[in-house]
Amino acid sequence: MNIYKVLPDLGNTRQMKLWHKALRSQWSAEDIRWEQPVRARTRRLKQSLARLLTPVLMGEQSALYSVSAQIPQAGHNSEVPAQLYLTTWAVDEARHTELFARYYQRIEQEPLSIRRFPAGYLFQSQITAKDTAEWLSGVLVSEVLAKLVMIEFRDADVDPVLSDIAAGILEDEARHLAFNHLYLEQRFADTYRRGVDEGDQASDFLHRKLERVLDHVPPMLEALDADLVEIGIDWRRMVARLRDETTDRLDKSIDRGSRVGSGERAEPVGASAARS
Ligand SMILES: [Fe+2]
Ligand SMILES: [Fe+2]
Repeated sequence: MNIYKVLPDLGNTRQMKLWHKALRSQWSAEDIRWEQPVRARTRRLKQSLARLLTPVLMGEQSALYSVSAQIPQAGHNSEVPAQLYLTTWAVDEARHTELFARYYQRIEQEPLSIRRFPAGYLFQSQITAKDTAEWLSGVLVSEVLAKLVMIEFRDADVDPVLSDIAAGILEDEARHLAFNHLYLEQRFADTYRRGVDEGDQASDFLHRKLERVLDHVPPMLEALDADLVEIGIDWRRMVARLRDETTDRLDKSIDRGSRVGSGERAEPVGASAARS
């Protein structure tokens, strides 16, 4: 049985603000104008898109599972504002899963099977973790990758429906990345408050996790090389951007947390009231 406080502590106002924003920003696959004509008409282009969207759909489903598992985890740690926010993150990933499943119907194609695309499955399997901070440093890679891929699809303007989906997902991803930062900053403020060694060890641990996940990205994209070239995506440049952006984001969250924890920087207003 789960143990919880009858009156939850909602003192983390930054996470509460993000939860309210997420509630107000919800949208549905039914809002997409599916009746717009398919621009990708040739069978060859549709097959190429079907292969390319395989890791995207895989990522959405995998995120739905992993976010859902984090909801009770946050509750177990009495992180109720995080728990509330995560329920919307799960809804976001459920919506993305539906959108891409319906997109496959639109182009009358199927994604690659796991047997034909093991690198995609291996990448996803690196992300899962029970601890919320460890999971966030792994999922950072798939979130930033989703963002970069959606920007490419939107700019390539392959299909108006795909561009509409990409625009909506980009807004959702911005919130996921914002939560990633808020949570990790808070976690590191608390860890560094207990001692520099403990903070540094946790930092090394998360950087190693990030590297492990990043190492699985090139083989996954290499397997789709011909299709990425066909659509006009320079995936090697994208991988370099992914490495830079994820490392910068993790560094920033840890650095800000460590400065708050060591008293160098003031606690952000309403960052946490749950430590007492
Ligand atoms: Fe997603
Ligand atoms: Fe996401």
